[in-house]
Amino acid sequence: MTDTALTPPLAVLLELTHRCPLRCAYCSNPLALTPASAELSTAEWCAILDEAAEMGMLQVHFSGGEPMARADLPELVAHASRLGLYSNLITSGVLLNEAKLAVLAEAGLNHVQLSFQGLDEAVAEPLSGFKGGVAKKQAALDLVQAAGLALTLNFVITRQNAHELDAMLSYAEARGIARVEVANTQYYGWGLQNRAALIPSEAQLDTMTALVTEWRERVKGRMVIDYVIPDYYARRPKACMGGWAQRFLNVMPDGTLLPCHAAQTLTHLDFPRFPASTLAEAWFDSPAFAAYRGTAWMPEPCSGCDNKEKDWGGCRCQALALAGDANTLDPVCERSPKHEQVVTLARREAQLGDVPLQLRRFSYAMTEA
Ligand code: FES
Repeated sequence: MTDTALTPPLAVLLELTHRCPLRCAYCSNPLALTPASAELSTAEWCAILDEAAEMGMLQVHFSGGEPMARADLPELVAHASRLGLYSNLITSGVLLNEAKLAVLAEAGLNHVQLSFQGLDEAVAEPLSGFKGGVAKKQAALDLVQAAGLALTLNFVITRQNAHELDAMLSYAEARGIARVEVANTQYYGWGLQNRAALIPSEAQLDTMTALVTEWRERVKGRMVIDYVIPDYYARRPKACMGGWAQRFLNVMPDGTLLPCHAAQTLTHLDFPRFPASTLAEAWFDSPAFAAYRGTAWMPEPCSGCDNKEKDWGGCRCQALALAGDANTLDPVCERSPKHEQVVTLARREAQLGDVPLQLRRFSYAMTEA
């Protein structure tokens, strides 16, 4: 990709806070979380929204942690709405109630992405560390549907709940959901530490893939099912984030500007931070954003691969986490010399049975509202 072809991002993802009432074992946020005291202020988030709109971005995703832990969320949604940005709330739903949702809808919220760790409390609670979460999420779903907001249900899949997939899709169908994500956990941040406890077996994956294929046929035209498999069993890498610094810009709670949520693990890159850097400076001028954009950085055999402008070399954060080098091939790719090692690792860990889950731990400053 040449500079002349460089267009602004499509969307900005605002990680408003790392605080969260859940303590998910698969949490992809970094090991070192941003404390509440270091979060950007309301005025700073509004200024970021101004810049995003000015750059020509179309969408804003409010994420976290749990974005509803920020009391100023309605103000931020209203600001995005005034700027003409399409707003999506990525939430666990457990802090949602009728009054809060009414305020968010009034502020102009367009879409809610509601995540479930399954439908059985006995399975979901050990994964999320939150008691009664399924009932709360089902109540949140009622509210979102009653408010008539666009909605995506996100089922996070692990070894523990993979057997519930058919029940999850039946539930979504019965609720008249138009879009469902069946998202196998990806192993970043805290979740990487729990990989041996969470990763499903290939047999589980084959069953899920067959079920999704069957369900897609059955609900064609009524329900769209997005399906994300665990990378480790793939033969080709995913186009992570649609290509490094090509479509999305992430803002961490402290204003650090990143091309993806895990990029801060690439400590050889110096990522800019708002407000010292504008979003446009980060996107167009920052060496860290340019580092893996396009194809010029690619080693062999990526640079000669027919898929290079489809997968954009896969995931840089995964190359670092699994191969120890962000500049090398994503080991998920079957052309990587490390590929077999990764598949073998996944197979071995998936057979370990009941490995104790390490739930996320927060300091007091992290959980206070
Ligand atoms: Fe960072 Fe994939 S998560 S490039």
